[in-house]
Order: sequence, then C-alpha cells, then structure tokens
Amino acid sequence: MDFNNLFGVEGKVVCVTGGGGGIGRGIAGAFVAGGARVYITSRSDLQEAADELAEEGPGECIPLRTDLSNDEEITALGRTLDEREGKLDVLVNNAALGGFIHRFGELPMAEWDAMTTVNLRAPFALTQTCLPLLRAAANSAVHASVINIASVDGVRIAGDNDWAYGMGKAGLIHLTRQLAGLAGNKHGREGGHNITFNAVAPGPFPGMLDRYLETEEGRAAVGAVTVSGRVGKPEDIGAACIYLASRAGSYVSGVLLPVDGGLLVGKRANS
Ligand SMILES: NC(=O)c1ccc[n+]([C@@H]2O[C@H](COP(=O)([O-])OP(=O)(O)OC[C@H]3O[C@@H](n4cnc5c(N)ncnc54)[C@H](OP(=O)(O)O)[C@@H]3O)[C@@H](O)[C@H]2O)c1
Repeated sequence: MDFNNLFGVEGKVVCVTGGGGGIGRGIAGAFVAGGARVYITSRSDLQEAADELAEEGPGECIPLRTDLSNDEEITALGRTLDEREGKLDVLVNNAALGGFIHRFGELPMAEWDAMTTVNLRAPFALTQTCLPLLRAAANSAVHASVINIASVDGVRIAGDNDWAYGMGKAGLIHLTRQLAGLAGNKHGREGGHNITFNAVAPGPFPGMLDRYLETEEGRAAVGAVTVSGRVGKPEDIGAACIYLASRAGSYVSGVLLPVDGGLLVGKRANS
C-alpha cells in the first residue's frame, strides 16, 4: 500500500472559508503542509496570514477577501476560482459567526438573520456556486470533497442559549446529508458525480472561544467538558479534513465526524 497516496493532497486546489484564524487556519495549514494550493477567505485582509501559512509549504496559500453574507461576493469568489483554477478539489465551509447569546424571549431577530445567513445560507450558496468547479475536479478515480464545519452544538442542547447558532449548525448537518444523498458520489450514473459531502463537529477549540482560553484556569474549565480533558488543537480538525479529502476518505459521504475529545459521549454532553 502506498501510504502517501492514501492521505496525499499534493496539487489539490482547496478553498477554506474563514481560513485566516482559529480552526480555519489549522485546516488551511494542514493542506498547505500537504502540498495543496489553498485559498483562504474572510472579510478581513488575510495577506499576512497567507504569507505565514505559506511558510508551512510545500503548498501555497492565497487570500481572497469575501463577505459571505453577500450573494454577489459569493458569486465573485466562484468566478475567481474558476478563472484561476477551473476546478476545485476541496471546499471547506468553515466561516461562521458565534456569540449572540440571549435568554429565550430576548433574542433580537436581526441577530438570528445575521447568524443564519453566514452559518447556514452561505455554505449552501457557496457550495451551489462551486458545484461546476467540484464536478470539474472529480472523476471516477478521484473524488472532490465538500466539508462543512458544524459543531457539537448542532447535536446536543448547549446550556448557553445559543439559539440561532445551534439551529444553524443542526441545519448544516442535515444539509450535508441532503447534499450527500442528492448530489453525491455516483460517478458514471445519470446525474451523479464523484463528490463527497461530510460534516465535522468540533468540540471546544481556539477561535470563537479565545476569550475563555486566555488563562490556564480558563483552558482547564473549557477542556473539562470533554472526556479528553483538553481543548482541541486546530490541527486536530485539519487532520480530519485531510482524511475526508484524500483517497483515504473517498468512500465516506454523508457522515458527521465529531472531533470533540469525546464531548458528545461524555457525562456533560448537555451542559
Ligand atoms: N472554536 C470552537 O470552539 C468551535 C466549536 C465548534 C464549532 N466551531 C466552528 O468552527 C468554525 C471555525 O470557528 P473558529 O472558532 O475558528 O471561529 P473564528 O476564529 O471566529 O473564525 C470564524 C471565521 O469566519 C469568518 N467570517 C465570519 N463572518 C464572515 C462573513 N460574513 N464572511 C466571511 N467570513 C466570515 C471570520 O473572518 P472575518 O471576521 O475576518 O470575516 C473568521 O475568519 C466555525 O464554523 C465554528 O462554528 C468552532
């Protein structure tokens, strides 16, 4: 068995939304280290992050500024990827908004709309926009891969009133299954293409939780909700994405892969 071929991503074209920091940076870094050409997007200028990530090469990292709450910018992102590459091997829908914690009865619906737009609507819109590029990358021997970064909060009932966040992540998990079932990997059959659609559910990680992770006590308290007893490292998610996008994961579609230190099976899953 050729182990490098099994987990290899060299030469693949990858887009990681929200790839400049937190979990997205861990995902982008893993693909760059594996020799892929990785486009990272966010509303901010990511040139510095892209330059730092490129140092993890042999792969490359290219920043593209995109506001995923804007349909025209989603279309423009797809057009840019088409003009530059003509194909897309891996799309990682990672960008999301966190926060907006309110007791039931007090959630401003504008916040619900803003969060749902970025966390659920945008992954659908971008995947739809990139579909021709994913189809161009896939053939009967090599799959293209869409990876939606969901959350354990799309599975459990989190105790912190994250209404729109949990609902959006649960929707993203269901959307992943729908896409796998309806647009997935039936290469050679009518209407089918060799594209896999999977979701990853992170437990506690740097990024959205940074404000809780500044002290040793904070990190210990956050890590305590897992069975592992620690906060995740961004490369833990990067490794899961490499598996799903490489030959190793080519027969895996429609799954939710928790990367959560055992949180969902631990005693405190609903706290
Ligand atoms: N960290 C955790 O503990 C944890 C746990 C479970 C799930 N997750 C999931 O993991 C993913 C990454 O989270 P993270 O913790 O790394 O979060 P983060 O550090 O807050 O990163 C989120 C990224 O999304 C981008 N973003 C937000 N709104 C955007 C918009 N309208 N258009 C384009 N980009 C936008 C942000 O960039 P700009 O602000 O520059 O646009 C940022 O790069 C998310 O899907 C999150 O829900 C995280």
